[in-house]
Parts: sequence; C-alpha cells; structure tokens
Amino acid sequence: MTDVRRSSDPRRRPGARHGDTAARVQAMPLTLSPPAASRGLIATLTVVAALIAASATARAETPVERGESLVQGIMACGNCHTPMGPDGPVMSQDLSGRLVDKNDMFTAIAPNITPAGRIAEWSDAELARAIREGIRPDGSVIGPPMPFAAYRDISDEDLAAVVAYLRSVPAVEADPGQSTYAIPLPPAYGPPLETPVTAPPAGATAEYGRYLAALGHCMECHSPMTPQGPDWGEGFARGGMEFHGPWGVSHAPNLTNHEDGLAGYSDAELAAIIGTGTRPDGARMLPPMPYGYFGRLSDQDMEALVLYLRSIPGKPDL
Ligand code: HEC
Ligand code: HEC
Repeated sequence: MTDVRRSSDPRRRPGARHGDTAARVQAMPLTLSPPAASRGLIATLTVVAALIAASATARAETPVERGESLVQGIMACGNCHTPMGPDGPVMSQDLSGRLVDKNDMFTAIAPNITPAGRIAEWSDAELARAIREGIRPDGSVIGPPMPFAAYRDISDEDLAAVVAYLRSVPAVEADPGQSTYAIPLPPAYGPPLETPVTAPPAGATAEYGRYLAALGHCMECHSPMTPQGPDWGEGFARGGMEFHGPWGVSHAPNLTNHEDGLAGYSDAELAAIIGTGTRPDGARMLPPMPYGYFGRLSDQDMEALVLYLRSIPGKPDL
C-alpha cells in the first residue's frame, strides 16, 4: 500500500518518523539470537515483541495508512470519484473519475484524483486546500456535489494524511471529462478557515462521532438541500435529498431521535444499517449511501457514530 518507489520523495518525510518506529519495533523478533535462549524464552519474547509491535502499529499509524482508512472508509471519496460497475466501485480504476450526476443544474464529473490526474501538478498545500475549501490552485471554485460544507471540519493532520494517501495510490490513466454548471457557483464555501483545525481525540464518544459524521458528510444528504447549501438550521438531519438513478428514487430519511427517524432502532440495528446497508427485516437499502465504505469503520468508530446519532434531539419530518 505504501508506495516504496516514492519513499525518497520529500513529500513523504512527515510520515517517515512514525513508520520507522513501527518498523524498528516489528523487526525486534528477528534480532533475537536463538542459541542464546531456551525455546520457552524465545516463545515468550516473540509473543511480547509481537504484542509491542501490534500496539505500536495501532498507535503509530503512518499518515498514508491513516489517509487510506479515511479515503476508503468514512470519507468514501470513491463513491463519487471511482467508476461504478454493476457491483459497485470498479477498484482497478479506483479514484480515476466518473460522471456523478447530470440534472438541470449541472453535469458534475468527478475528476481523476490518482497521480495520473492534474492534481499531480499541484503542491500538497494546494491539493489540501482544494479538498477542504473547494478552491483550486488557479482560484476557481470546485462545484457540487462534492460536500465542502462538511469537509471544512477535517483536521490539518487528517487532511495531510488524505493528501499523502492520494499521492501513494496507483496512477490510473483516464480523463472523465469536464463538468458544466448552469447555476452560479458560490465565490467560496465559507470565510477563510482559521487554522490550526484540530479533531477531537479519537474514541467511542459522541464528540468524535460528530467529527466522523462530518467526514462522512451524512448530513449533506440527510438534511434539505438549498441553493446556498444544506439547511443545517431547522432542517438539520430531518431528512433531505432525493436520489434518482437506475435504482429508481431513494430518499435520505430523518436521522434524529424521533419516531419519524431513528427512535425505533436499537444501537446494533443502526450500526448494521450503516455498515451493511441492510435493514433489520433483511431488506437491502438503495444507493447512493456508501455502505461498502462505512462497513470498513472500526468497531470503535462505529460506536462513536451511533453515540453521536443518539445525541441528536428528535424532530419530525419536515
Ligand atoms: C458527492 C460526490 C463527491 C465526493 C464524496 C467527493 N468528491 Fe471530489 N469532486 C466531486 C466532483 C463532482 C468534482 C468536480 C466538480 C467540478 O468540476 O467543479 C470533484 C472535484 C475534486 C477535486 C478537484 C480535482 C480537479 O482536478 O479539479 C479534488 C482534489 C477532489 N474532488 C478530491 C476529493 C477527495 C479527496 C474526496 C474524499 C475525501 C472527494 N473528492 C469526495 C465529487 C465528489
Ligand atoms: C450520498 C448520500 C448519503 C450519505 C453521504 C449518507 N446517507 Fe444515509 N441514507 C441515504 C439514503 C438515500 C438512504 C435511504 C436508503 C433506502 O431507503 O434504501 C439512507 C439511509 C440511512 C439510514 C436508515 C434510516 C432509516 O430510517 O431507515 C441511516 C441510519 C443512515 N442513512 C445513516 C447515515 C449516516 C450515519 C451517514 C454518515 C456516516 C450517512 N447515512 C450518509 C443517503 C446518504
């Protein structure tokens, strides 16, 4: 997954420190000299070393690993940027771009964001700004439906990890074409960001779940969409967008703790709905919610997300 050919690239440097530490710890069992110790001792030391390695790896995730878990998990970039086949995203063409939506307001084409796309010519800072603020290096604004209202919350550290991961994925030659917008695009998606942007500490807390929900742009789909962006005032989480596609029409329902929303589900049912796209009665749910990506969340992250959903006061459908 980490592209070795690029490891001398200066852009990789911030990650090198963590990666080296994990690699050193993992190498420990190899440096034990078997004749010097009894079998039992070797076995014990090996187990101890493996435990240390496992916990070191869990803590000292490299930026590329963190970026992969975000892009291929909660952030689900491929839900828009990867060509779709009958069985979902075509992973051999991962992130190489596709037509996302064609309607009266726009023909939105998500560009190739592998190293074969034009982002290869952008600096890491330029790419980071494009993802978090929706502004390209030439100053132009990236149009909908990329969920910039939600992405503004991503921390500097996680954003750098996403950039590091995008630089490491295989280059896929593809040109999906250019979007056209019949609606005026906003000059920006908000005032200039105040940095540093930090994330709450990772853990099974509603606060971290709220951060994950922003990265997963849950409430862009599950709140009413207005020409100015999602209604996160009165309409917040009370059901939102309708999606038309080969599946017919799907509607993102109310996610508040009202009987119109999630009140009737147990926590376990909710986690299964989000991570498998299957309702408690076994019915498969419709696109475009990225169940396949959300299914890769760790148990702790899923618990945080459910805790967050439980913290949203109940409001009826609008
Ligand atoms: C809901 C769909 C959607 C999701 C999710 C999404 N994007 Fe996009 N993205 C788009 C569309 C559509 C465009 C092009 C809009 C335009 O042409 O103005 C775009 C543009 C971009 C661009 C500008 C590229 C260029 O060459 O101009 C970058 C970079 C980008 N996306 C990265 C990401 C990353 C990284 C993620 C995940 C963290 C992501 N996107 C998630 C739809 C999406
Ligand atoms: C791209 C749009 C989109 C995104 C992003 C999205 N959802 Fe959904 N969601 C939907 C749609 C559409 C449905 C309805 C599917 C159906 O009826 O088959 C749905 C259904 C659900 C349901 C079932 C609710 C019920 O009453 O049965 C839950 C729970 C849910 N989403 C939670 C989430 C969470 C949590 C996130 C973020 C981590 C999220 N969604 C992100 C579009 C989205």
